[in-house]
Amino acid sequence: MVAMLTREDDVSARAQAVGGTLVLMLLPVVLLAPLAGLLAARVDRRLMLMVADVLRLVIVVTVPLVGVLAWTLAAAFLVSCLSLLWVAAARASLAALLPEEESPRAARTATRVIYGPAPVAAVLFAILALIADGTLGRDSRADLALYVTAGVFLVSTAAIAISREIPAVGMPAAPAPLKLLFQGPGTAAARGVGLAIAGASLTAGAVISVARVHTGDLGGGDAGYGTVLAGLAFGLGFGVFLGPRALVPFSRRRLLGLAVIAAALALVVLALVQNLVVVVFMTAFLGVFAGAAWSTAKAAVTDPDAQDDARPAAYLRAVALVAALVAFIAVPLIAGALGSNRLDLGDSVYDFTGSSAGLLIAAVVTLIAGLLAYRRLDDRRGIPLVPDLRAALHGEIYTPPEQVAAAPQQPVHRERGVFIAFEGGEGAGKTTQARLAAIWLRDHGYDVVTTHEPGATKIGMRLRAMLLDRDTTGLSDRAETLLYAADRADHIANVIRPAMERGAIVVTDRYVDSSLAYQGFGREQAVEDIARVNAWATGGLVPDLTVLLEIPPEAGLRRLPAPADRIESEPQDFHERVRAGFRALAEADPDRYLILDASRPQTELSREIQYRIHEILPDPVPAGTEDATSTFPAIRDF
Ligand code: TMP
Repeated sequence: MVAMLTREDDVSARAQAVGGTLVLMLLPVVLLAPLAGLLAARVDRRLMLMVADVLRLVIVVTVPLVGVLAWTLAAAFLVSCLSLLWVAAARASLAALLPEEESPRAARTATRVIYGPAPVAAVLFAILALIADGTLGRDSRADLALYVTAGVFLVSTAAIAISREIPAVGMPAAPAPLKLLFQGPGTAAARGVGLAIAGASLTAGAVISVARVHTGDLGGGDAGYGTVLAGLAFGLGFGVFLGPRALVPFSRRRLLGLAVIAAALALVVLALVQNLVVVVFMTAFLGVFAGAAWSTAKAAVTDPDAQDDARPAAYLRAVALVAALVAFIAVPLIAGALGSNRLDLGDSVYDFTGSSAGLLIAAVVTLIAGLLAYRRLDDRRGIPLVPDLRAALHGEIYTPPEQVAAAPQQPVHRERGVFIAFEGGEGAGKTTQARLAAIWLRDHGYDVVTTHEPGATKIGMRLRAMLLDRDTTGLSDRAETLLYAADRADHIANVIRPAMERGAIVVTDRYVDSSLAYQGFGREQAVEDIARVNAWATGGLVPDLTVLLEIPPEAGLRRLPAPADRIESEPQDFHERVRAGFRALAEADPDRYLILDASRPQTELSREIQYRIHEILPDPVPAGTEDATSTFPAIRDF
């Protein structure tokens, strides 16, 4: 609307008017959020929701009727203030309607409901612009979209009027974004992540701020503008979804830095290529990278053990808001100030518009922020990026050759017995297969000891209770690692070694690899450190064979009886990393591992395990005896 109300030939005024509108719409969110929270806690919420809706309706309808730039700008500001009140009241009502344990889930759903309609709105706007263009002529283009918006407010008021229950219990006011920003994030890690988020938000903000003018320069008009916004909104949504799921074995911190750099590069292309289709696609790519950066960053700063601490996430939101505000102010100003420049390239000319220049500058700033963030966040220093990425694309974790060679060589203690470990993620069926293998071995006359970790000894049982009880909170990753190692040391000393020394076959359900996979890969601690601690705890005892039962975490977790223990209830990406970790360990030493797809029928799995165990078994009958007994019929039970 403001673009339409400024003179078409004055591109810089137009860019600044659009940018100014966006600034006016974002300012209340940055400055007035706590006020809205306070009001929502005190005023009758149903009244507040309905008044906000009716006022927004009236203001939005008057914008096209009045058709004056100043009123349009004022309306943008007022509608945004009212929206702030509305959202605060709605969130407060939601919190009061639900039991407390549901509130994190409700907050997530509310966020989805608030941001989810953005792509739909953008598409709708593009369609309305096309219809209005065809039927109402140039000047009425934004009118139709505004009337439809007013209709949405009408429906909303009606819905609130007929809903019976809007409780009036108070809730704490939302923290002020600016205050959060000045207080800092609470953790050093979040500061590096904040830099990355500032970059990602800057790219998206830059595109939004000049998209109307830029698409106009490219002959796109309002429908083109709507399409660009839709591309961005869809991209962001998809990116947010993709972030935690992409390249699971790859370092999340590296991924975050790379996503910001990629968003900056998409913005460079977007700024330089003067073609509407390219602009739409690049905006969508930019959205995917920025969205992935957002969800990766959020996961990186939220400590799963302290889910109540919303501060780091709120800090990131504040950073994103302020960075967008900076983009809304700066990019249109730069675009207006630089204006269009025509470059003569011999037989063709290249129009470098003011908005292209603004976008390019935003891209360069983001690129610098992305590179700095990458360097600051890099948790795999010294490991080259390309092979690391390539390995992650194959679902593996890259270990540089020199590290493999330098890994502590575990002295192989060959005792008289045989040592077999069963490993795998949750619900893979290790326990069942370990038991079946033991029965089979006993049937063949071997002395078999079946055991498990954690918790096979008296002390171990107490450690197990501590480790798996969901009431254990605040256990640090290192402490967890050492407790598992302590259980293991006790297990070796009191169960495994005595059995091995008398020549038994020891079958254990979990061993060192579980710690490498869960505490190393899962908790993202240095795997070499975990290996070293465990080599010491076990005195270097390595299994003769490790059977790895492979299953996708979601399938495995589904097989488990409820309720989940402390480790089982870790998020999906934790279990994905554990799975990738087990795989990487097994693939690095194929002679010592048997990798099996745990979704296959149980009897088939048992048979394969028996074949493989058979290969490593000592001959139960002393050599030479066979000649003496060969005249007797062999008694076999299969
Ligand atoms: P389980 O008895 O069902 O196998 O449970 C043991 C849990 O402990 C399982 O979730 C995996 C976890 N675990 C580790 O995280 N590290 C270890 O070293 C071991 C042995 C188990």
